[in-house]
Amino acid sequence: MEPVTVTHGLGSYPVYVEPGILARLPDLLRLHLAGRRATMIADQTVFQLLREGKLGQARWGEEALTFPAGEKSKTRETWARLTDALLQSGHGRDSGLVVLGGGVAGDLAGFVAATYLRGIPYLLVPTTLLAMVDASVGGKTAVDTPQGKNLIGAFHPPVAVAADPLALISLPEREYRAGLAEAVKHGVIADRSYFEFIEWDADALMRREQTALTRLIRRSVEIKAAVVSADEREGGLRSILNAGHTVGHALELVSDFGLPHGEAVALGLVVECELAARLGLAPTGMRERVEGLLRRLGLPVRLDRPIAGDQLIAAMSGDKKNRGARLRFALPSDLGTMPAGNRWTVEAPDSAIKAALESVR
Ligand SMILES: NC(=O)c1ccc[n+]([C@@H]2O[C@H](COP(=O)([O-])OP(=O)(O)OC[C@H]3O[C@@H](n4cnc5c(N)ncnc54)[C@H](O)[C@@H]3O)[C@@H](O)[C@H]2O)c1
Ligand SMILES: [Zn+2]
Repeated sequence: MEPVTVTHGLGSYPVYVEPGILARLPDLLRLHLAGRRATMIADQTVFQLLREGKLGQARWGEEALTFPAGEKSKTRETWARLTDALLQSGHGRDSGLVVLGGGVAGDLAGFVAATYLRGIPYLLVPTTLLAMVDASVGGKTAVDTPQGKNLIGAFHPPVAVAADPLALISLPEREYRAGLAEAVKHGVIADRSYFEFIEWDADALMRREQTALTRLIRRSVEIKAAVVSADEREGGLRSILNAGHTVGHALELVSDFGLPHGEAVALGLVVECELAARLGLAPTGMRERVEGLLRRLGLPVRLDRPIAGDQLIAAMSGDKKNRGARLRFALPSDLGTMPAGNRWTVEAPDSAIKAALESVR
């Protein structure tokens, strides 16, 4: 199967999306890290699955470094430990990394690759649906600090991405659904027929059937790649990827991150679709349809505890993208369509935001 090509300011890279592609990891190394000393960096949970032969058909007999799974590892301390280990084992400019795991591994080990000896190449092997449909495109790497998420990082695209839908079989249900929320977002902002495919194949996707899953990952990668390459400098178009996220981030914040990102995005999409209807941008019925799909995919569409409109608005105003300005949202004008005339984001009065929040109570 032909890979999807992601273009960026410095060139381009292929994203292979194929069940069984990880059985061909040695070929991909020869192709994309030719002649280099390869080391894997993986989170411990995923590395254990790999060693037990439970990650598709992937095998790894070369050097490897691991870190404890989870967001709490995405720090400068882990970055320092990993780069120290590479230095101690004498890795030079002719080394290359294989980064295996979810978005945390991609961001953290991608940042190691960006900074080690001023940058070495890496092959990215995402193993969560979120990392496949979202983090595999864009070339962003980062670590968190006590001041906030992703504050220290670099732009350093991989040389290639290998996404194997078979590797998702072991993914916990909640993590899997989080990736589905981002895929629904891609349909809502850019492709009605993709949204309809997710509706049509929702049950197959819930069973993680490989044909449906492969199509989902490929189309999401294509959509994100098209948006990102059309807008390298994050001037305008790229902000449509924020659909569902302005409200979603605020919900994560007020829940003190008790609400997982994907679930916050699902709720955020419902609220923002309702907001689009209330502002007269989108037809009525769109919110109900998006909500219906998210529900079928096992994602929450109602808050499990009350959140005051003022609290949510305060959380959104603190969001760095909105500071000093009236609140702006990336709102679709219809399923798969953003408003014409480069109106990537629109302002919304507090009263409309509060009214839209009622749709998830
Ligand atoms: N760079 C980007 O463009 C970008 C985009 C979106 C998100 N992110 C970042 O990604 C991170 C979230 O990523 P995530 O949700 O993948 O989290 P994650 O990397 O922590 O993975 C979630 C959990 O799933 C486990 N896991 C991974 N693959 C598995 C598999 N195949 N089977 C069983 N368990 C598996 C992991 O060990 C971990 O416990 C955040 O830090 C976010 O900032 C980055
Ligand atoms: Zn997201």
